[in-house]
Amino acid sequence: MRRVAKDAKGRVTLTLNGQKVSGEAESRTLLTDFLRHEIGLTGTHVGCEHGVCGCCTVLIDGVAARSCLTLAMQTDGRTVQTVESLAGPDGKLNPLQDAFRTHHALQCGFCTPGILMSFTDYLKRNPDPSEGEVREVLGGHICRCTGYDGLIKAVLAAAKTMREAKGA
Ligand code: FES
Ligand code: FES
Repeated sequence: MRRVAKDAKGRVTLTLNGQKVSGEAESRTLLTDFLRHEIGLTGTHVGCEHGVCGCCTVLIDGVAARSCLTLAMQTDGRTVQTVESLAGPDGKLNPLQDAFRTHHALQCGFCTPGILMSFTDYLKRNPDPSEGEVREVLGGHICRCTGYDGLIKAVLAAAKTMREAKGA
């Protein structure tokens, strides 16, 4: 039987933030490292690398996922969305980002990309969450700076802005 070296490289091609991109990855390369080092998008942060802190959260086929628990190879042919996709091409913040700014939902900002991506997914599925539901989603993220109050206010305000924009 032919043995494949464990660090053999392969090509990964995916749709990233609406654009087809391609890069080299070893079979063991994490999606976090692929995004940051191979593609050069450093908005996705790396904290615990154990699926606990949530700062590496991205959307895979529209669903929030920990990129530190995903192999780059697993995203071949799939759609990935990172925090870089949220603002408009002119740099205009989207309603969720804007609410984070207004309600002081960040300090150092290390946890912020992951939280933004989690709620980008969650608010699509639940556009009118209760405070308790927002707290539950935030339970999947560790923020060492904000005390969480600003985060809760920001998410509830963003949800309201988005509902109003849709005329709901
Ligand atoms: S770095 Fe992925 S959950 Fe902490
Ligand atoms: S803003 Fe610093 S860890 Fe959340």
